[in-house]
Amino acid sequence: MAVDLLLGLQWGDEGKGKIVDVLTSNYNIIARFQGGPNAGHTLVFNGMKHVLHTIPSGIFHEDAANLVGNGVVIDPVIFKKELDKLEDQNVDYRKSLIISRKAHLILPTHRLLDAASEASKGKAKIGSTLKGIGPTYMDKTGRNGIRVGDIELENWKEKYRALANKHEAMIDFYNVDIQYDLEELELEFFQAIETLKSLKFIDSEEYIFQAQKEGKSILAEGAQGSLLDIDFGTYPYVTSSNTTAAGACTGLGVAPNKIGEVFGIFKAYTTRVGSGPFPTELFDEDGETMGRVGHEFGATTGRSRRCGWLDLVALKYACQINGVTQLMMMKADVLSGFKSLKVCTAYKYKGKTITHLPFNIEAENISPVYTDFKGWKEDLTEMEEASQLPQELNAYIAFLEKELETPIKLVSVGPDRKQTIFK
Ligand code: GDP
Ligand code: IMO
Ligand code: MG
Repeated sequence: MAVDLLLGLQWGDEGKGKIVDVLTSNYNIIARFQGGPNAGHTLVFNGMKHVLHTIPSGIFHEDAANLVGNGVVIDPVIFKKELDKLEDQNVDYRKSLIISRKAHLILPTHRLLDAASEASKGKAKIGSTLKGIGPTYMDKTGRNGIRVGDIELENWKEKYRALANKHEAMIDFYNVDIQYDLEELELEFFQAIETLKSLKFIDSEEYIFQAQKEGKSILAEGAQGSLLDIDFGTYPYVTSSNTTAAGACTGLGVAPNKIGEVFGIFKAYTTRVGSGPFPTELFDEDGETMGRVGHEFGATTGRSRRCGWLDLVALKYACQINGVTQLMMMKADVLSGFKSLKVCTAYKYKGKTITHLPFNIEAENISPVYTDFKGWKEDLTEMEEASQLPQELNAYIAFLEKELETPIKLVSVGPDRKQTIFK
């Protein structure tokens, strides 16, 4: 069976966790394929909120297997904390959680290197979550990394020591004021490694291959969003992995011709956390309202998210790069009460009007061209069927579907699992 993908189309935090949880009952396996604990995926059900960082969002469903794929980077310390929380809630993850031997490990010194690199950049900092993502992927591509499978080998601690020593020298090289007690960090790290070792490690590409052969259904869960992709995002203000559809092929070992549906998920407006260009960003009352009503604070770092109007130029780009087959619109409820809404349909760029994403989208090069829409007053949060949606929202949706040439099959009207309308 083909592998379906669920991907964020903006700068992350689109609501991927919620929708993966909603869709899990249709799948046998949920698989994360890239990113790491920089992700924060929120699920709300039965009056409880859960935030997952590395563990796939299908974990609350007993019947689904949850795979952490080879493309993911794992911080054992954060992973252990996630497991402890699941244990507190009596979630029996031991049966269902499996980890690729080829996934790379985030070491304590990777986190320190992230902090040193950001401190050395000053105002030009990326706004990283400081979870060690960039340095870990650098070691992966530089062929120095330590993988989950390594910790099953006897001499792995020698490899660890050599790499940690090298990292310490690199931290010194940055010449910034980073205070740390490596011994303490290592104590915590090696304890967490023991917890990790109690889980099931697998050769995940073989597992995925066999599962496909047996007709099992698989949903690959993206982290971050297309505009944070290392190749196609707003470089250098991006993360260090391929967050787009191709990342699922390399991050799981799925052949491109085995990809089925590509679910593209986006907010009815736009948010971004961290630095980098954001053409439709608002600095007025409208932006403030989106942030307040939408509770736009990072699920990993607690930082406030920057807010702005929907950017159709960027969204179209993301649909193209990913080959999106179905769209899902999140947080439509947050826009209730706006008298009018704007959607960016083109950019003014070097005196011309363009409708594609150019090399450089910094504010000094680009100004958005907007189309106005009438807002709606109705509270959407109690609505259960598409027929209840206000006419103005239907007009907004119809416009997006036409422009993006892709159907919007799901409208989310609140954080809870139940606040989901299928069209
Ligand atoms: P993810 O990283 O893509 O999984 O998204 P996050 O969990 O970081 O951020 C999405 C936030 O919006 C979370 O706080 C969700 O609980 C919340 N959320 C998801 N869908 C909706 C929705 O339709 N309406 C509202 N108001 N909140 C939502
Ligand atoms: P989810 O999966 C939103 C952003 C950071 C920073 C940049 C690089 O929850 O959607 P990194 O830690 O990767 O070095 O940070 O990417 N970023 C995210 N923004 N949602 C995320 O994940 C993010 N993961 C990273 O804020 O700007
Ligand atoms: Mg998030």
